[in-house]
Amino acid sequence: MRVRFSGAKVVLTGASSGIGWEMARQLAPRVASIALVARRESRLRELEELLRGQNAQLEVKVLPCDLTDRAAREQLCASIEEAWGCPDILINNAGYGDVGLFERADLARLLRMVELNVISVMDLTHRFVGKMVERGSGGILQVSSGFGLTWLPMFATYVGTKQFLTSFTECLRLEVRGKGVTVSQLCPGPVATEFEQVTGNPFGMSPPKLLELSAEQCARSALRGFEKGKAMILPGFFNRVLMFFTGMTPRWLHRWATGLSVSRFRKKQLAFEAAQADAQRKQTTSEGSPS
Ligand SMILES: NC(=O)c1ccc[n+]([C@@H]2O[C@H](COP(=O)([O-])OP(=O)(O)OC[C@H]3O[C@@H](n4cnc5c(N)ncnc54)[C@H](OP(=O)(O)O)[C@@H]3O)[C@@H](O)[C@H]2O)c1
Repeated sequence: MRVRFSGAKVVLTGASSGIGWEMARQLAPRVASIALVARRESRLRELEELLRGQNAQLEVKVLPCDLTDRAAREQLCASIEEAWGCPDILINNAGYGDVGLFERADLARLLRMVELNVISVMDLTHRFVGKMVERGSGGILQVSSGFGLTWLPMFATYVGTKQFLTSFTECLRLEVRGKGVTVSQLCPGPVATEFEQVTGNPFGMSPPKLLELSAEQCARSALRGFEKGKAMILPGFFNRVLMFFTGMTPRWLHRWATGLSVSRFRKKQLAFEAAQADAQRKQTTSEGSPS
């Protein structure tokens, strides 16, 4: 079922950069109201100004929120409900990744990632989808990833969060079928945003440039697919080809291929950590030595 942007009230998480920022810019001329959610208020204010410049009639709400904080999330939902009752469109876009051996990872960071990429998405979706079904209209776009459909060692928890999101969204879409509510998901390959900087990339694992899209291209494809009511949006031709062949590949072959580089990356990570520890030791020694 098609999603109507015209006159819609939209809640967009992760609006302060990357794909979310671009979605906001592309939605601005077409919707009536938009609530921008992320932690960095200054960035949201900058975006607010930009959107008002694009569409003077647009109602913009800046709602700074750390979505990993359950109490803050509760407050966020309450203020959306107070203002709008229920939004017409919810876009769960906020998320981050983590790279490296699971055994060496910072568990607290991984748990926050699960809270953001999985729990907060479930929470916001649950909060509004029932009201959308009751009303008989609405749209929810979940920003998953190509990793929702495949896997790569060194990204275990991130892949896990996106596989959850992909399966969750497929099921939810079927549950609300025929109720006037469209549930779609976006599964991008690599997109040039702050994602890599936040995720970190100490081992130089760079995806082929052929696959990389700009945030603007990704957002355009996302909104076009969502508006058409597509179940799964795979932005970029090469990403679609890759996902097609990944889907055709037997699991054992995929396991073998993705496992090929693990021992190399294990060595790289241990060497990287040793170099870091060495640099730290040298710094401590030089700070402690008399000048
Ligand atoms: N870029 C890629 O290659 C790629 C590929 C596949 C899927 N994706 C997915 O696309 C989505 C958007 O990522 P992006 O590439 O646009 O990355 P990005 O530029 O780093 O944007 C991430 C957004 O999430 C927000 N965010 C992070 N932690 C948050 C928190 N605790 N509470 C509220 N908001 C938070 C950030 O805002 P603040 O820091 O201001 O809070 C920012 O607006 C993510 O779900 C990501 O997993 C990205």
